[in-house]
Amino acid sequence: MGVVLGSGLGQFSHELSAAVTMDYEAIPHMPRVSVAGHGGKLSWGQVGKAHVLCLQGRAHLYEGNSPSSVVFGVRLLAQLGARAVLLTNAAGGIRAGFSVGDLMLIRDHINLLGSNPLTGANDEEIGPRFVDLTQAYDVRLCEAALRGALDVGVSIHEGVYAAMPGPSYETPAEIRMLKMLGADAVGMSTVPEVIALNHLGVPVGALSCITNLAAGLGKGRLSHEEVAQAAAQSSDRFRHVLARWVERSYEIYCGR
Ligand code: HPA
Repeated sequence: MGVVLGSGLGQFSHELSAAVTMDYEAIPHMPRVSVAGHGGKLSWGQVGKAHVLCLQGRAHLYEGNSPSSVVFGVRLLAQLGARAVLLTNAAGGIRAGFSVGDLMLIRDHINLLGSNPLTGANDEEIGPRFVDLTQAYDVRLCEAALRGALDVGVSIHEGVYAAMPGPSYETPAEIRMLKMLGADAVGMSTVPEVIALNHLGVPVGALSCITNLAAGLGKGRLSHEEVAQAAAQSSDRFRHVLARWVERSYEIYCGR
């Protein structure tokens, strides 16, 4: 199983037993991560019986990375043998009723990044030119997430994630627009990785931690400190859900 940990969600690495860790610096072509709260380490270890490769911290487009370098990490996980990948992120809540600390399983996305990691020449050996995203978020992995959350007694929402380029947060007018478009949460990552994994034919699932109400929906202004703090506060619940999700997904895709 491959796992990618987003902003402030690095605590999950404590769920890994017998973990071996490597800094991104030691991996050729791996883009550096510069954002506070992102670790920049590849770990491999076990959660129960599940063998896990875990990327702690990801590269974003807003750091100046090209779309293809942003997906280098998940392509690496696939090359190293991950048969399914679970992505996590911090996101702003848009849907009425979402609270800070809620978890949302991503069922679909809206790509407003203005870029796609598959732009450019296509290598047919890797995947098709035109990738179907009708079920971009693997149905069996989604079921495993819902069951995994039940196992640990945490309720989770399901919804649509809108990816915006950042790094500035959205304006309240942009959030009203995203709401009209059908988005339930907003963030600045994940979508390129989902596209690249669909291209490779690797099943992918994604879970958001709602770290703030999106611009104009909460009381105050937005800050990365608030996002990181909220992620840290939810990190215990988040890591327990993720651990069960990993184990259940492993049984589905990696069981012998
Ligand atoms: N907007 C975009 N990205 C985010 C947000 C947000 O409100 N919160 C965490 N990541």
